[in-house]
Amino acid sequence: MAGQGLSPIRRMSLGAPPDAINLGLGEPGWPLPTGQAVRPDEGSVDLSYGPNTSDPALVDAIAGYAQARGADTVGPDGVMVTAGSQAALFALFQAYAEPGSAVLVPDPGFVAYPTLARLCGATPVGYPLAASGDLDAEALVALLGEQPHTSIVVLNHPANPTGGLASAQALSRVAEACAERGVLLVSDEVYAELWADRRPASLRDVSAAGVVLSSMSKAFAAPGLRIGWALGDPEMLASARLVHNAMTTAPSRLSQAAALGLLGAAGDVLPAAREQIRVRWGTVDRVAPQLLTSGHSFLGDGHHIPMSRTATRAGFYLWLALPHDLDDDSTSRDDPAVTEAFALRLRDEAGVTTIPGTAFGPRGAGFLRVSLGGPVDALEEGLRRLAPWWKA
Ligand SMILES: Cc1ncc(COP(=O)(O)O)c(C=O)c1O
Repeated sequence: MAGQGLSPIRRMSLGAPPDAINLGLGEPGWPLPTGQAVRPDEGSVDLSYGPNTSDPALVDAIAGYAQARGADTVGPDGVMVTAGSQAALFALFQAYAEPGSAVLVPDPGFVAYPTLARLCGATPVGYPLAASGDLDAEALVALLGEQPHTSIVVLNHPANPTGGLASAQALSRVAEACAERGVLLVSDEVYAELWADRRPASLRDVSAAGVVLSSMSKAFAAPGLRIGWALGDPEMLASARLVHNAMTTAPSRLSQAAALGLLGAAGDVLPAAREQIRVRWGTVDRVAPQLLTSGHSFLGDGHHIPMSRTATRAGFYLWLALPHDLDDDSTSRDDPAVTEAFALRLRDEAGVTTIPGTAFGPRGAGFLRVSLGGPVDALEEGLRRLAPWWKA
């Protein structure tokens, strides 16, 4: 645990002035469509421990939900219900990340991946993304070639923090490369249902290999339930289940009952969530369009290239390049301290909490992550406060 500290995301929020608007946390701020959806039918919940493998009704509902999305080979034994997808990541890493091995993670990428790898005595190795923030399969496969002792490759699409996607071809290329080398592929798809115009590709569209992660936390707007799940080959999931059992015995029964209710209402909940996503991206278009065309993009490693934001809007993160006119010497964007100092200025002078891109890996220097997930009123006011810092 040496060297591990409070998450940089929580740290930005803790020091904020009292009236700062928080566009930092990656959490949906819209209400559940109805209270009814999460209320168990019977009016009472079985509060026994229940099976380690969770309530069979929930497992069946998740398998049905996955099948309806094209993962037609998934049966109940291919579903591992966990205390949020975070616990699925923890369990899979503990089971498969050998000490001394490399775990390939996106850079920039979700903050938990490197920490979870280090907790196994493995080394997180960041792979670069395309300029759009999308998966660059060739770059990832090349790194895999350079890291022969890799135990796990993690993909995340739609991505936190870039909003980037992975094409079916790119997923297929990475799945093949991992299969050839006997590397576990984990495809974190917790934002997959939050698309504005077109459903993004899933690993399951192209391959039955690897693990796909989903969650109640984003599209179902219920992060506090702490329910997520992994889909994968039953034999491959077996050792991760043992880790999860050792850690939690089983997810909370109350949360499982609520998740079952929400899955049953998916036909209402998910279209409503997608509407919330459209409203939020539309708010950026209306209030601060210059943030979407901030032109100059910086990918770390000293490369400055034109921004080519991914065409499909999915998830609720805006990956924002620092303003052009920040200073005379644009190469200082390489310096993590410049990004962090600018995020602190925005927080303390503009009154908006964003997350410095460096929180997500060294290649995040020169960027900020703005969460569009919260309440629309706060987002609108936050964007008004940010807009003058980027010239139209
Ligand atoms: C990419 C990604 N994966 C996984 C998680 C964990 O989500 P949960 O444990 O709430 O399912 C998050 C949360 O922010 C995330 O952004």
